[in-house]
Amino acid sequence: MGHASSQGNPCVLVTGGAGFIGSHTTVELLEKGYQAVVVDNLSNSSEKVFERIRQIVGDKADKLSFYQADVADRAALDAIFDENPITHVIHFAGLKAVGESVSKPIEYYANNLGTTMNLLEVMRSHACKSIIFSSSSTVYGDPDELPLTELSPKKNATNPYGWTKWMIEQILSDVCVADPEFNVVLLRYFNPIGAHPSGLIGEDPKGIPNNLVPYVAQVAVGKRDCVHVFGNDYPTSDGTGVRDYIHVMDLAQGHVAALEWMDGKTGCEIFNLGTGTGSSVLEIITAFSEACGQELPYQIDPRRDGDIAENYANCDKAEQEMGWKAQFDISDMCRDSWNWQSHNPSGYEG
Ligand code: NAD
Ligand code: UD1
Repeated sequence: MGHASSQGNPCVLVTGGAGFIGSHTTVELLEKGYQAVVVDNLSNSSEKVFERIRQIVGDKADKLSFYQADVADRAALDAIFDENPITHVIHFAGLKAVGESVSKPIEYYANNLGTTMNLLEVMRSHACKSIIFSSSSTVYGDPDELPLTELSPKKNATNPYGWTKWMIEQILSDVCVADPEFNVVLLRYFNPIGAHPSGLIGEDPKGIPNNLVPYVAQVAVGKRDCVHVFGNDYPTSDGTGVRDYIHVMDLAQGHVAALEWMDGKTGCEIFNLGTGTGSSVLEIITAFSEACGQELPYQIDPRRDGDIAENYANCDKAEQEMGWKAQFDISDMCRDSWNWQSHNPSGYEG
């Protein structure tokens, strides 16, 4: 794909833009008239996502370009900045499987930190100093108090993936101290699920899904026998783990809101992106069963190592500062996940 046509629209580099959250955000950027320059090495995604994005956005796809490259590749990134009038970066690229990060810490630190350091060097050399980073509620660890606000303390991570988020937040905040022109937004996502309502793009995990909703969706479509519920002896309403699930379309809009909000500002700001409502594992299974019209089987298994009982966000800051608030609830999320999964039982390769 060539470089995006430049017609005065702000131009955003989207690292990891072929992935789950990146592809939905790319759609939102194009819908809002931004130019989107995606760089992705396709290590956890498929180039087919771009055909689907084109189907969704129609003519606006002429403001989309894709470079298959590693974000840690200096020469490749320099060339992308030379060829496109990039003003902002949204940095999604990274490895994200928590369990795998425990067995492959070197790969996780090298990839997640290496991409970020290279990106920052190339941004600085091209005088592009605005970046939004995909952080995670994982930086709050096991919370003392709920809901979590941006002022809640960061706690020690329990795995290398979590540490990379923790460290990159610190690096970006240090960069802002050293260079007062830098403009950083750290978005702490809670649990993104759902899919574009068209059913054309969605989450396409490789192998056995680690996360709850992709697993439940594969049970619904008959690829797996039953949902394994990791523990029902937590101090929660029904004993199962509680999380703040957020629709990926709300999350995508949160990035556009952050881009608009950060315009003309400098410094480092943190925003939680969640709904403010916690749902238990059993509530998710029930909501998904309603969405797909069949009772999904489950069994109670032991707790999973490293899991916490409960977390959910206070998102008042995002609403007050950026005018952003999540619109979708659990039944919308399960409906759209099911729509994607049932139309694409084998993901993009199906
Ligand atoms: P994803 O794996 O679907 O997307 C990440 C993309 O980055 C993939 O397309 C992958 O091919 C690409 N990538 C990885 N390393 C790369 C490299 N070195 N160079 C170029 N491309 C590279 O993951 P996602 O769920 O869309 O997550 C996006 C970001 O949000 C990640 O940083 C993730 O850690 C963060 N995040 C995700 C969640 C979640 O639950 N999905 C929660 C909190 C934070
Ligand atoms: C996990 C990561 C988090 C990461 C996120 C997205 C941990 C501690 N946290 O969040 O850092 O950002 O994934 O990649 O690993 N569950 C089941 N059965 C399953 C799967 C999950 O019962 O098959 C339960 C879990 O115990 C938890 C809830 O469902 O209570 C959500 O789990 P999951 O979707 O994996 O997300 P998190 O663990 O919250």
